[in-house]
Amino acid sequence: MLFSPAIGILLSSLLTSSTVFALPSQDATTYYAGLQSALSSQALTHFWNALTVANGTESERALVEKLYSDDEFTIYVPVNAAWESSNLTEPSATGDLVSLLSYHIVHATLNSSTDIAPSRRHTIAFTELRSPTVDLPGDQTQVMVLQTAEDPATGESVQGDVLIRGDSWNASSIGEQFVYENLYIQPIDKPSPLIKTLSQTGLALLANMGATAYVNFTSALGLHDRLSTCHGCTLFVPVDRAFEEAGSNGTLNSTSGEDRTAIILNHILNGTVEYSPAFSTASPYITAAGTPLLYLTGEGGKTFVSVGKYRAGIVRANIPVSNGVVHLIDTLMISTIYNVDRAEEAAESASREAEERTTTPNVIGITATFTSRPESTPTVTTTQTPLTTVNPSGAGAGSAGYRAVELSFDGGVKMGLMVFAFGAMWL
Ligand SMILES: *[C@@H]1O[C@H](CO)[C@@H](O)[C@H](O)[C@H]1NC(C)=O
Ligand SMILES: *[C@@H]1O[C@H](CO)[C@@H](O)[C@H](O)[C@H]1NC(C)=O
Ligand SMILES: *[C@@H]1O[C@H](CO)[C@@H](O)[C@H](O)[C@H]1NC(C)=O
Ligand SMILES: *[C@@H]1O[C@H](CO)[C@@H](O)[C@H](O)[C@H]1NC(C)=O
Ligand SMILES: *[C@@H]1O[C@H](CO)[C@@H](O)[C@H](O)[C@H]1NC(C)=O
Ligand SMILES: *[C@@H]1O[C@H](CO)[C@@H](O)[C@H](O)[C@H]1NC(C)=O
Ligand SMILES: *[C@@H]1O[C@H](CO)[C@@H](O)[C@H](O)[C@H]1NC(C)=O
Repeated sequence: MLFSPAIGILLSSLLTSSTVFALPSQDATTYYAGLQSALSSQALTHFWNALTVANGTESERALVEKLYSDDEFTIYVPVNAAWESSNLTEPSATGDLVSLLSYHIVHATLNSSTDIAPSRRHTIAFTELRSPTVDLPGDQTQVMVLQTAEDPATGESVQGDVLIRGDSWNASSIGEQFVYENLYIQPIDKPSPLIKTLSQTGLALLANMGATAYVNFTSALGLHDRLSTCHGCTLFVPVDRAFEEAGSNGTLNSTSGEDRTAIILNHILNGTVEYSPAFSTASPYITAAGTPLLYLTGEGGKTFVSVGKYRAGIVRANIPVSNGVVHLIDTLMISTIYNVDRAEEAAESASREAEERTTTPNVIGITATFTSRPESTPTVTTTQTPLTTVNPSGAGAGSAGYRAVELSFDGGVKMGLMVFAFGAMWL
């Protein structure tokens, strides 16, 4: 490195002294002994056991050591019964164990009663799970998708009860969250199955989720490799019903293979992993086919994406996959326009932005920001700068919040106008 030894020593002593100053306990031994007894007193001993196993190998120790710091974390700790029923009471010190533990740790404080989105909305928490387990741009980590549980009878949010959403599973909070030093600890009912999910391809996952037609369609086009190697992508995946409709009204029948590839690529953001609380209505995204994709919100919390003259409702948002995120939609958007240059430019600018990003939010969509919902309707900006990277700006968690902008659709008129404006701009 370019540091001279003297500067290196100066830096490290500065870092050490400032860190030590704010550390939670007087020393690490006291801190970890306290953590052990805090977990034991809540009958969370198997989790402690897993931590010590992970700590037992030098290469995997960093995760455990990270906790003793002046930063704050939220840990979702599976209860003892959960480790027992998953046969994980005697884990071995492998990368898998560390991946599993990493996915339960969030580098932020999340109060289960006040910070988690109400039912049917999501709080996105960036966990400590990084590559090589996940293939996301820059230093982006895999996310945990959280929401408040709902009362099965009334559908109302049950404050304080948290659901962790997976593809075909949910984990639930059990009992009260408690605090130990710099840690918020929330017991949950199972170790997240996400690690297992991530070991399948995203396509196998989709086949389980009512999107078999998409898998068949992309397979017939030879797109599977391209989709599974897409590095940090947002995939809008039409459910089977959407393909049925497009088939039965004949709109798909006359399309060529080339057209169909363009259609699929128009449902993908290449190099940008965009979760629903961070979606922006302010300016369009550019798809992997180089055309503009708009995000829109309607009444009753409904959300849509639009390409060309088509508009699709998002039926299920934020399904994490190893190389990005999937949002299920109800309509196949049959836009066959493919602008290769525009697509490459967008992918390049997205990956450049991801690599250069120095701060990433730890949480997006926390309840606190819900109160400051924006009042304006989305404005159509006509900036010429790359538009794929409409992430919440560097301000961090606070700047995200829900995009609860109401947009009333007067028939298709407003949409038609917007599409026309973008069409003229881009195509
Ligand atoms: C982790 O391992 C190191 C090295 O063996 C040891 O000094 C430390 O006490 C361990 N920490 C915990 C929490 O077990
Ligand atoms: C755990 O192990 C028992 C006995 O080996 C087996 O019967 C059970 O199916 C296993 N459970 C899981 C979830 O793997
Ligand atoms: C979470 O917020 C509630 C309500 O403000 C408060 O009573 C509770 O102590 C907080 N929990 C933690 C872990 O700080
Ligand atoms: C997970 O929770 C959501 C929201 O309550 C519910 O709609 C869904 O059916 C649940 N999924 C599973 C597999 O239990
Ligand atoms: C997908 O392909 C499989 C195998 O060819 C077939 O059994 C299945 O019905 C197809 N699914 C849809 C929704 O087209
Ligand atoms: C389109 O093709 C599908 C099957 O390939 C067929 O079932 C449907 O009737 C066709 N629709 C029209 C309008 O030709
Ligand atoms: C994403 O962009 C890269 C670089 O242009 C390209 O190699 C890759 O095929 C693109 N992926 C998709 C799904 O279009």
